[in-house]
Amino acid sequence: MRISVNVDGVTYADEVEPRLLLVHYLRERLSKTGTVIGCDTGNCGACTVHLDGHSVKSCQMFAVQANGHEVTTVEGLARDGKLHPVQEAFRDNHALQCGFCTPGMIMQAIDLLADEPDPDDETVRKGLEGNLCRCTGYQNIVRAVQDAAHHMRPGAGPRLEQHTDEDITAKQPVGGE
Ligand code: FES
Ligand code: FES
Repeated sequence: MRISVNVDGVTYADEVEPRLLLVHYLRERLSKTGTVIGCDTGNCGACTVHLDGHSVKSCQMFAVQANGHEVTTVEGLARDGKLHPVQEAFRDNHALQCGFCTPGMIMQAIDLLADEPDPDDETVRKGLEGNLCRCTGYQNIVRAVQDAAHHMRPGAGPRLEQHTDEDITAKQPVGGE
């Protein structure tokens, strides 16, 4: 199938197999290897990207489902050589150790902050509960998200993060072999 998808501000037109997962399309076709695969089963959140400004697990949707949409990966967050405030906060608060969960954590945190501009500890933990970290114990991640919140005006951030409340739900891959 032919798809046209905007990824990190660039529009790509590609022929893809109908069952190609979005995360494989991003990594293997577009070399967007900043988006990583932890489990491939929707459990860890490492593959989280934004679809039209809302976080989705890119191992849980097909590339064809992104046809006509805008995808933002962690590689598309920096602007003019400057890190996104959430990226800066993760760095400043030592919110990563091995860093494997970090791209997904950051993408999920940005989505959380779009809805909750000043989240308390519990709100951050609940908002990130679909993203697993095996290293940090989460405390510095929570601190980083709250720090980022203080550095961001409500709704601030890249254009793609200034989304409306329209809910875009990633569809589960259907059918089986
Ligand atoms: S790789 Fe997608 S949720 Fe784990
Ligand atoms: S920093 Fe290693 S999994 Fe989170």
